[in-house]
Amino acid sequence: MNIVRITTENIELVDKALSFIFSSSSSVNINYFSNPNNYFYVAMEDEEMVGAIYGHEFDRPDTGKKQLFIYSLDVKKGHRRKGYATLLVNHFIDIAKSGDYHNVFLLANDDNMPAIKLYDSISGKKMNKKVVEQILYAWY
Ligand SMILES: CC(C)(COP(=O)(O)OP(=O)(O)OC[C@H]1O[C@@H](n2cnc3c(N)ncnc32)[C@H](O)[C@@H]1OP(=O)(O)O)[C@@H](O)C(=O)NCCC(=O)NCCS
Repeated sequence: MNIVRITTENIELVDKALSFIFSSSSSVNINYFSNPNNYFYVAMEDEEMVGAIYGHEFDRPDTGKKQLFIYSLDVKKGHRRKGYATLLVNHFIDIAKSGDYHNVFLLANDDNMPAIKLYDSISGKKMNKKVVEQILYAWY
């Protein structure tokens, strides 16, 4: 298994990577993949893409350290429970540790049992004490 970062150097993987994450086929924003603050990795088993994760790096206003936000994580049905998601999330954690980042974080719905079990199994700290279903607001 290989974890491959998608950049403009291997842009031929982008279409497959995007259709992996987004159900309908999407156009490609090349700027996203040339921005070093954007992290998009896929897990490859031989020639097959079996998992994908992407997220963003940004500055905190207080500590001066950077944070990594995991925006999306998906493992192909039929390839789950083989440790791919664990490897992909740990990859982000390794980047953050080696770069002295403040932390890595993500939001998970509290009814997404596989995701909650996964993050618990790799020692994710739950930052909110009360169990609340997350609500994502967006404008435009
Ligand atoms: C959640 C998801 C990413 C997990 O991917 P995965 O590759 O199957 O996860 P792993 O194989 O690394 O699992 C590691 C551990 O997490 C826990 N886990 C993962 N899926 C689980 C499930 N369906 N039921 C119970 N525990 C589960 C187990 O402890 C597992 O270890 P084990 O298999 O030795 O028991 C995958 O189910 C998925 O793509 N779901 C749809 C998208 C999604 O919900 N993404 C997360 C958004 S926050």
